[in-house]
Amino acid sequence: MFRVYRTKNYEEMSRQAANIISAQIILKPDCVLGLATGSTPIGTYKQLVEWYDKGDLDFKEVTTVNLDEYLGIAHDNDQSYYYFMHENLFNHINVDESHTNVPNGMCADPEAECARYERLVRTLGYQDIQLLGIGRNGHIGFNEPCDSFPAATHIVNLTKSTIEANKRFFASEADVPRQAITMGVGTIMQARQILIVASGKDKADAVRDAFYGPITPTVPASVLQLHPNVTLVADEAALSGVQD
Ligand code: PGA
Repeated sequence: MFRVYRTKNYEEMSRQAANIISAQIILKPDCVLGLATGSTPIGTYKQLVEWYDKGDLDFKEVTTVNLDEYLGIAHDNDQSYYYFMHENLFNHINVDESHTNVPNGMCADPEAECARYERLVRTLGYQDIQLLGIGRNGHIGFNEPCDSFPAATHIVNLTKSTIEANKRFFASEADVPRQAITMGVGTIMQARQILIVASGKDKADAVRDAFYGPITPTVPASVLQLHPNVTLVADEAALSGVQD
């Protein structure tokens, strides 16, 4: 099933995405949430924190698995995804720290870390719901456009366009890490439900190509057309390349 929620703006997109995640937590309090970083999900996390503060949500039995992490960046670096998740969500809710999982970007052996992370997600029974953003180039996690869909958690060399897109968060382009660990497309596709959020005109081509174009590893998100349960929550600007 592919559902599209077209929202007026970013705030409405965030509320709708948070509603879907809340529904998952309420239906299955010990669910596995697949989480994402980037600017798009920040509003979703804010909304979840607000509902937690009101007493409407309880994360005590929830387990989380994040999509990806830069290689060579420590937890206390404010650009690490570990830091991002604590800043934007984990520090503000009652999730058990030991139930939160982000690939370790400071591991001594990145290949072994990929294998460990893949095993971990499998042992947890995979994600009940996986939240995703979409890159301007159609990437999901750090699965960049390439010749084939990478199946398992792996090391990636970031593309020029991703380095370019992310340099706004670093002192200079030279400081943007060149490699990351990411769940593979296969790991993401194991999730029982996919929730993908997109906002703004600069995502319009990626959204159109991913969901209304051919399935191709040159647009990694297009693989989601093969998933049985996908919900796209996107604002009008992000859907501006798509007919109603
Ligand atoms: P953004 O990133 O939310 O910061 O645009 C999304 C992504 O690259 O997956």
